[in-house]
Order: sequence, then C-alpha cells, then structure tokens
Amino acid sequence: MSQSNSRAFKNAAYSHIAEVGKALSSPARIEILELLAQAPRTVEVLAGEISQSVANTSHHLQALKRAHLVTTERDGLYVIYSLAGGDIAELMAQLQSVAARHSAELEKLKREFFDDPAGLEPLDGDALLDRLRAGDVVLLDVRPEREYAEGHLPGALSMPLSVLESRIDELPRDCEVVAYCRGPFCTFSAEAVRRLRERGFEALRADVSVHSLSVRQKEHWDEVYRSKAPDSVSWYRPRLEQSLAWIEASGLGSDAHIVDVGGGASTLVDDLVERGFERLSVVDLSEEALAHSRARLGDAAADVQWVVGDATTRLFEEASIDLWHDRAVFHFLTDETRRDAYVDALRAALRSGGFAIIATFGPTGPERCSGLPVTRYASADIAAALGEGFELIDQADDEHVTPWGAPQDFAYALLRRV
Ligand SMILES: C[S@@+](CC[C@H](N)C(=O)[O-])C[C@H]1O[C@@H](n2cnc3c(N)ncnc32)[C@H](O)[C@@H]1O
Repeated sequence: MSQSNSRAFKNAAYSHIAEVGKALSSPARIEILELLAQAPRTVEVLAGEISQSVANTSHHLQALKRAHLVTTERDGLYVIYSLAGGDIAELMAQLQSVAARHSAELEKLKREFFDDPAGLEPLDGDALLDRLRAGDVVLLDVRPEREYAEGHLPGALSMPLSVLESRIDELPRDCEVVAYCRGPFCTFSAEAVRRLRERGFEALRADVSVHSLSVRQKEHWDEVYRSKAPDSVSWYRPRLEQSLAWIEASGLGSDAHIVDVGGGASTLVDDLVERGFERLSVVDLSEEALAHSRARLGDAAADVQWVVGDATTRLFEEASIDLWHDRAVFHFLTDETRRDAYVDALRAALRSGGFAIIATFGPTGPERCSGLPVTRYASADIAAALGEGFELIDQADDEHVTPWGAPQDFAYALLRRV
C-alpha cells in the first residue's frame, strides 16, 4: 500500500461518509427520518406531517435514498418509505441528544417551549427506568397506534393523543401517569400531560423515545464490560459445557453457520474455533464485550464474524443459520413486543432443520441480572415461549455458580426449526 494509495483511499472513503452527512443537512430530512423511525410511511402522509408539498417531500426522500438512508417497497398503488436499518433510528436519537447537549440555543428553545406550568422536570431515560422498576407509574405511549405497533417501550399502554379524552377513564387514578411520544422534539406528550392534568391526573412527561432507550441499553452493556473484567460478571463460566455437548451431538459439519447471539465475552466461540468450526458469528449489543473476545482469540478472531447489533432485529439473511445459540439474552425480553421481534428474527434466520439452543434463568433463578428485570422459564416452557415453528429435542436444568460462589438456576432447551 503506497502513500498516494492511502491518500486516495481516505479521500474516497471520507467523501462517501460526507454523502451521508450531506443528506442529513436539512431540517426537513431530519424530521422525515424521525418520522420514519416510528413507522414506514408514504410520501403523501409524510408531506402532510412535515407541512410541505408532495413534490418537495419526494425530493427530500430521493436525497435520503441516494445516501442509502431510506428504502422503498411497493404496496399496490403506493410506495412505502422506511429507514434502511434500525441503526439509522439510533443515529437520529444520538444526533438529537448531541445537539441538545452541546447547543445552548437548542436547549433554551426546548426549555421555553416545553416550560411546565407545574414546574416539573420531564423524566430522562434513567429516571424513567427507575420509576418503571419501582412499579409506581403507568407509562402511556401517546403516538398513533401504528407507531406503537412497530415498537414501544416495555410495559407501555397505547393511548394515542387523538383518543386520550375518550379513553381517559381507563387509567388508574392511584398512581402517576407518565406520557412519552416520538422524542424530545415531539409535542404529543406535552399536550397529553396538559389534558391529563385538566382531568385531575398526576401526570408527567418523559423526554425519551423508543430509540433513545435502545441506545441507552447498548450504553448499559458497554459500561458493564468497561467496568468489569469478563471473568468477574455473574454469568461468567469458563466453559459452556451444556451448549458444547449439544453442538457436538448435533452432527453439524465444520462448515455450519453457528451464531452466538448476545455472546458477550463468552468463551463459547473459542471452544468452537478449537473444534474446527469455520463459519462462526458472535452478535452482541456491546462493542466492548466483543472487543474482549477478539483480543482473547488473537489471530483466530479474523475468521469470526463480529456483529454489533440487537438480537431483536433481522441481522442475518433468511435461512442462513444452522445453529442459533443464546445463553442469557432471551430472558431479558420481558416485553411481548421485544420477545415477538426476537422470535421473528430467529424464525427468519434459522434454516429449516437448523438448531436453536436457548438458555435462560430457571424458575428459581434470580429475578434480575445486571440490574435489569428478567423473565424466568422452566426448560420445558422455553419452546412454548418461542411459539410455532420449533420442535423441542432436549431440555436440561443447570446450576450455574457465579464467580463469587452464588448458585443460579438455569434452564436450557435444544430446539429444531421445523
Ligand atoms: C448475561 S450476558 C450473557 C453473555 C453470554 N451469552 C454468556 O453466556 O456469557 C447477556 C449478553 O447479552 C447482550 N445483550 C443483551 N440484550 C441484547 C440484545 N437485545 N441483542 C444482542 N445482545 C444483547 C449483553 O450485551 C450481554 O453481553
């Protein structure tokens, strides 16, 4: 690689990146991306929402499409626009939070607009999670129902602003109501809070979006792996014996595509490399976790596919996986929507006849892990939790012992995709 080659490479690479920046350099296009982060839409619907002509909106959408930020799909006579990936929604949430943190003008604008007559500060992500864990609030999603159906915060009730008044009596009066909407610059939740208070409810706004919490989840796990050594976390186990035994017994050849979902810094990948498996992928929300495994594996890491991503999204091509392994990730999906999304991703990616190994906390296991609530399963119930399309082949109960000697009940299920 010559020096002039390296200059040419950098020039070309940065101009591709600048194309993305250029596509973002328009208030209308940022608003469009925020709307598409909630749910796909047609150009006509978008035009109405951003108060621009269809021609103008279409022009903006073409710019976003050229930068590969949106994709289209035809539905009869309509063209439906969507984000090209969940990471774009996270980018928008990050962009907004960077702007709010570093622009005093924006902060002032927001304060003046959302000034709360009761003098209450909106809940931020941390405060909202604390209140949800304490269980003393009702969380209300006041966006249109279609946006709620695309994804919502765990435990949230859907009550779009347009029907709030007619359904207000469904809400309990003995606890505070917290409303959230599309994000920090959407006005639905402020309006919902005003109407709720008018009707005598104790109500508060949460300054979050569905995507800002997913960014926060990643930050949570990154912080865990930054602050703790991989062998000092409660789930650390020098070797995943049960999983290895089932993988060896599966009869899969060395060319099988095996994915460790939420693999963290687990040593399973090392053991699979050692056994000659050649097509291994490890997925995790946390880049920090994967960095530990890559460093541990050394040169062998180059032959593994490392994916920073969310197991509840489709990260792999359809029917491209021979074995899906998940130890202690599925149990974090305490909300039905996230569980459904995970199962959808698993069903799509696992080929027919392929295997899934799912391990969760068992019925007497802890109720939380890493500060987060979990759902516990008996090994016999894991298949039912996944729903149709899986045949239970084997099940096992295991007592995991944490690095500080505490026993934890784990449940394992080996399933086949039918
Ligand atoms: C309890 S640890 C288990 C790690 C590993 N499977 C093991 O057995 O050592 C849970 C792991 O799942 C990751 N994780 C949590 N939610 C996830 C999600 N939705 N998608 C991908 N990874 C996730 C976390 O970053 C963490 O590494």
